[in-house]
Amino acid sequence: MSKYIYPDAIIATAGHVDHGKTTLVHALSGVWVARYSEEIKRAMTVKLGYITIGLYECPSMDSEFRIISDGLLKDGKCPNGDEPALKRKVSILDVPGHEVLISTMISGISYIDAALLVIDASMPVPQPQTEEHFTALTIMGLNKLIVVQNKLDLVNKEQALENYKQIKQFLGNTWAKNSPVIPISSLHKVNIEVISTLIDKLVPPREASGGDFRMFVLRSFNVNKPGTSPDKLVGGVLGGTVIKGSAKVNDEIEIRPGLKLGNKYEPIITRIVSIAIGNERIEEARPGGLVGIGTELDPALTKADSLVGSVVGKPGTLPPVWSELTLEFHRIEKPGDQALRDVTFKPRDIVMVHVGSAAVMGIVKGFHGGKLDITLRKAVSTEQNSKVVITKQVNNRWRIVGYGILKD
Ligand code: GTP
Ligand code: MG
Ligand code: MG
Repeated sequence: MSKYIYPDAIIATAGHVDHGKTTLVHALSGVWVARYSEEIKRAMTVKLGYITIGLYECPSMDSEFRIISDGLLKDGKCPNGDEPALKRKVSILDVPGHEVLISTMISGISYIDAALLVIDASMPVPQPQTEEHFTALTIMGLNKLIVVQNKLDLVNKEQALENYKQIKQFLGNTWAKNSPVIPISSLHKVNIEVISTLIDKLVPPREASGGDFRMFVLRSFNVNKPGTSPDKLVGGVLGGTVIKGSAKVNDEIEIRPGLKLGNKYEPIITRIVSIAIGNERIEEARPGGLVGIGTELDPALTKADSLVGSVVGKPGTLPPVWSELTLEFHRIEKPGDQALRDVTFKPRDIVMVHVGSAAVMGIVKGFHGGKLDITLRKAVSTEQNSKVVITKQVNNRWRIVGYGILKD
């Protein structure tokens, strides 16, 4: 157990619906991350998926791309028969591309090290969610991107080059203009070793972080099968990303905003009874991993993602809880996008507010002199001056219209 190699970075997918994000994660990991029945039925990612992959060196592989991941191992060997040498592990977070799920995407990427922007080579660039996801990554201040030109098997050389030109044009004048663009086929596992090698090269292991333990909750579960007898029930499970510090089994934790009692929120206090990454039990949760934390909570409290958006830390260390926000608003500007330029806020307008892993509906109270006042339907726990991403319906489509800096 002590020899467990902890993942040292989090890499998220991004991109338009059906461009092949989940298929790429499958090619990299050998695992389908969709485990949620609705997703299997509809072939569409609905919830955040996460998986840990190993990056292995294949010393004598006849290519400059000698770092492969689990999905390319054959019977535990490198494609050329080499014995793979595990170099490190990284976490992969798979996000949904459907427009109505943009909030899920934004809450997923609140704390990542790099993104794989997946683009379908057979379609014009950018598609709407290619653009929205890229905007979200930009607001989060990301600076590492690998552009994946997927479905190469569907296009001829001219089409591939034209698509490449459109990608370069789309990313020109942005922070990502020099990002590598890698043509691949996720379905046929072509060039996947280029992606894994670039992940290893471009995304350095995250440095150990000090400070108080803090985790953003991305998923929450009741893991008991229906009909389990009460003495066999296990407590509620929180899935999430550790943003600083570390926690161990038996540590006491606080969860905010907690439970609403009348008009106030009461923090939840519990204890960590287990920590896992995938099916692997580990001793300690720290940054880089997408971890599951077993608690002593009544599983009814954590079932069906009910604690998503909460923050977890040692008791007494968590930021304040807010039900009303005053934001210094910053508009998103895109050349030629008049609809975005015209966006304004009137009292009672509905917006979605994203902070940390929380995505909460808000009602506008007022918008004066660049200050946006919002009443939240559900409180959030966050620091003053946090960055808050705002989405709003523009011509019947949820769009990122800007971000706000939280003021007192
Ligand atoms: P959402 O999660 O709903 O946003 O979709 P996604 O981006 O995860 O796409 P997904 O991986 O579900 O793939 C969508 C469809 O494209 C599926 O039918 C895949 O089989 C197909 N697909 C993915 N990659 C490739 C590829 O490289 N070539 C071809 N021909 N089809 C692909
Ligand atoms: Mg998907
Ligand atoms: Mg799909």
